[in-house]
Amino acid sequence: MSESTQPHQQANNLWSSRMAFILAAAGSAVGLGNIWKFPYITGENGGGAFVLIYLACIFLIGVPVLIAETMIGRRGGQSPVATMRTLTKTEGTARGWRAIGWNGVIASFLVLSFYAVIGGWALVYIGKAATGLFTGADAEAIGGQFGGLLANPWELLMWHSVFMVIVVFIVGRGIRSGLEKAVNMLMPLLFVLLVAMVIYAMNSGSFGRAVSFMFSPDFSKLTTAGVLTALGHAAFTLSIGIGVLMAYGSYLPKTVNIARTAMTIAVVDTSVALLAGLAIFPLVFANGLEPGAGPGLIFVTLPLAFGQMSGGALFGTIFFALLLVAAITSAISMLEPVVEWLEEHKGVSRAKSAIGGGLAIWFIGIGTVLSFNVWESVHPLGFIPFFEGKTVFDLLDFLVSNLMMPLGGLAIALFAGWAMKRESLPADIGLQGSSYKAFMFVLRYLTPAGIAVVFLYNLL
Ligand code: PFF
Repeated sequence: MSESTQPHQQANNLWSSRMAFILAAAGSAVGLGNIWKFPYITGENGGGAFVLIYLACIFLIGVPVLIAETMIGRRGGQSPVATMRTLTKTEGTARGWRAIGWNGVIASFLVLSFYAVIGGWALVYIGKAATGLFTGADAEAIGGQFGGLLANPWELLMWHSVFMVIVVFIVGRGIRSGLEKAVNMLMPLLFVLLVAMVIYAMNSGSFGRAVSFMFSPDFSKLTTAGVLTALGHAAFTLSIGIGVLMAYGSYLPKTVNIARTAMTIAVVDTSVALLAGLAIFPLVFANGLEPGAGPGLIFVTLPLAFGQMSGGALFGTIFFALLLVAAITSAISMLEPVVEWLEEHKGVSRAKSAIGGGLAIWFIGIGTVLSFNVWESVHPLGFIPFFEGKTVFDLLDFLVSNLMMPLGGLAIALFAGWAMKRESLPADIGLQGSSYKAFMFVLRYLTPAGIAVVFLYNLL
């Protein structure tokens, strides 16, 4: 394919190094999913056995899609929509595969609308921790603080707005000066903060218990639903199936080995999730809290722990700053497919695309803001038994996380595994001989089968 049909593949547009791409893609992968969701679903699903299945899902299903999606993005060298339009022509496939691009742009648009609201919670909690609001507070008071935040649409809206402004500002500055600078700084900082938290947790007295909770598998605690939760979370945490890696891959120099890079990203993402668990569970056990407390685990139970420990205001502040960093680098990646699409289709500048796209996403986000208060009992699809009791936020989350991401991942695995021309695949992927054959076997059979199971489970 010529350079002119791959606009992003021009030298001044590319990531400045393999490392820059790794940091950006890992920044997308590492987010609320790792630090907020992974610990609480691990807690809910009994620990070790769940972690083991989750790891298997990451490497058997997640990594192959990550490789395929990045490879597709680099081949196309444009926004997910234009990339898929170009590739269906050059690869001589059915036009229907273009849906992968559209699915990506729409899903990343929707996911950011609610992710930004939760990101706003992290902003609020930095302030709460720093001003010592947790110090000495009991469970009721801490729960009241969280409930009070959710009940106040103006406060939620304000922090949702602040979060969106930060994201739009970074993305608007462009792939080199904005994205790269931000992740170059934020990702290593995140690692340092996490390791500091783990070191702190080591001295809490319950580190051993946390380690055995996370790493001694007790399969009697694992349900079928738990296995499927692990599969679904593997897709969410790696940001696959949604066009983000396609968008980032479009800026990836041809010389970079995608297979090796994808492995690095998966290892980084997994390490952060495990470090988050090792930072959180010792605190949970040391304070007699419940590991299976659910989505409120970090926002309700952790502040309690921070409020009791000496230096808790400082560590609480560090913890929520860390959550914010992770959420921002993920949010940046969600805006990228939308901005690329606007740039290409509307011919507007990157800055204007970021502002326009950001405004539209911010507006949709108001639906999520209201879901926790004014619209708490508004259930738009409540007439369908399956969606009974689901708020606007629940529906958006369900649509993106349970339908669009698994379906997108499945389509990407099938497109790369079955529809694309084979000749240049080994070189594009960066695998040869028997490792290429093994990879293709996994991509063509195991990965689609695994995703199909998650997808069907979510539907039933
Ligand atoms: N991987 C992110 C996390 O674990 O928080 C979530 C995410 C990022 C989902 C980007 C989708 C996406 F496009």
